[in-house]
Amino acid sequence: MPATAVIGGQWGDEGKGKIVDLLAQEAHIVARFSGGDNAGHTIINPFGEFRLHLVPSGIFAPRATSIIGNGVVINPAVLLDEMDQLNQHGVDTTRLIVSDRAHLIMPYHLLLDGLEEKLRAGKAIGTTGKGIGPAYADKVARTGIRAGELLDKETWRERLRCILDYKNAILTKVHGVSPLSLDEIYEQYSRYGERLAPYIRETTVMIDEALNQGKLVLLEGAQGAMLDPDFGTYPYTTSSSPLTGGSCLGTGLAPNRLDRMIGIFKAYCTRVGGGPFPTELHGETCELIRERAHEYGTTTGRPRRCGWFDAIAGRHSSRINGFTEVAITRLDVLDILPRLKICIGYRLDEQDIDYFPANIAAVEKCQPVYEELEGWLSPTSDIREFQQLPLKARQYIERLEELISCRAGIISVGADREQTIIRP
Ligand code: GDP
Ligand code: IMO
Ligand code: MG
Repeated sequence: MPATAVIGGQWGDEGKGKIVDLLAQEAHIVARFSGGDNAGHTIINPFGEFRLHLVPSGIFAPRATSIIGNGVVINPAVLLDEMDQLNQHGVDTTRLIVSDRAHLIMPYHLLLDGLEEKLRAGKAIGTTGKGIGPAYADKVARTGIRAGELLDKETWRERLRCILDYKNAILTKVHGVSPLSLDEIYEQYSRYGERLAPYIRETTVMIDEALNQGKLVLLEGAQGAMLDPDFGTYPYTTSSSPLTGGSCLGTGLAPNRLDRMIGIFKAYCTRVGGGPFPTELHGETCELIRERAHEYGTTTGRPRRCGWFDAIAGRHSSRINGFTEVAITRLDVLDILPRLKICIGYRLDEQDIDYFPANIAAVEKCQPVYEELEGWLSPTSDIREFQQLPLKARQYIERLEELISCRAGIISVGADREQTIIRP
């Protein structure tokens, strides 16, 4: 069986955790490939309700091995805590594997994330404060420390010493804060290394072998396409690629082995943090959606900005990801709205455009052009077959499919694993 990628189609929080948990029941491997504990994936299943930040959402599946891929940046303290919490709820984490190539989030990354945000003043990105940007910056600057290095205590102390000399110079001379202690970090991370040692391994071979044996490998996205550093609303983006392309790089999977690419889209849009959001709503409808859907960040608790479905961003996302199908989540949230809007174009400098501009100054000027549809005004949460959905709900979905040129194979009508419509 080939590999399947589950990708956030919008600005994150589309419901990837729910969909991966569902699909993982049949999977042999579930691998996270990007981001770190900036991600917050909510799962409601027979084990209970969970908010996972690093552990893949396949951890609940009876047969699946969960891999934290090389493309992820790992805060070991967060990972160990998450594993402990899962164990306390009776979830087995012995089948978790951490790529030896995955980079670590270090104490200076956490500090610098906050200090750099402060320097951005009114232009702050609104990061999650988890050290993500600084950790990926070190990865590409070749000053990162990888999980596998912790297994070789002597060598990694020397690397840490060189890196910390430089980081401490930045902390003290640029930001005017106290330096960090080499001994403290070394001892703390050596302890993490000892606890994580049984989980840290080479991972590309096992993914390849699973595929050779015809087993299902599921790649779990974090964030969403519009937060991609190349194709999202740069610089208001995250620092690793949440795209299908990123799913290959973040696991070592060859692109020709990926043949099912599922884009997850909310039936509307949300965004948390700064940056342009053309269909953003303010006022009553925004509040209604936010409270009904509890649109507050899973990782930071910040209120999510809410807006209408943006089919221009949706088509951009579908194009750069090559989605073979989409999953529409949170359809039930719209059950109470008498009228719905879908953005079908932008007006920019007196011209109609049908693509997502690269430059945020242009995106900020884009006025959405809306199409209005009537709402269905009836509950959908208990429906399990597409044909049973109210006609207007089906028409809404069919219009989204048409606009983003992709079939909706999965429709989610509630947070629970069971509250899902799978179309044949
Ligand atoms: P992720 O980061 O993409 O995994 O998404 P989050 O977990 O951050 O946010 C999605 C939220 O929507 C969570 O609270 C889920 O429990 C919830 N959710 C997922 N699918 C549905 C759905 O179809 N309907 C409703 N009402 N909630 C959903
Ligand atoms: P999941 O996987 C929503 C946003 C942050 C901020 C920007 C940069 O749950 O969908 P970072 O900490 O990555 O440097 O922050 O990206 N962001 C997310 N928004 N869902 C996420 O993950 C996010 N991960 C990062 O809010 O705007
Ligand atoms: Mg989330």
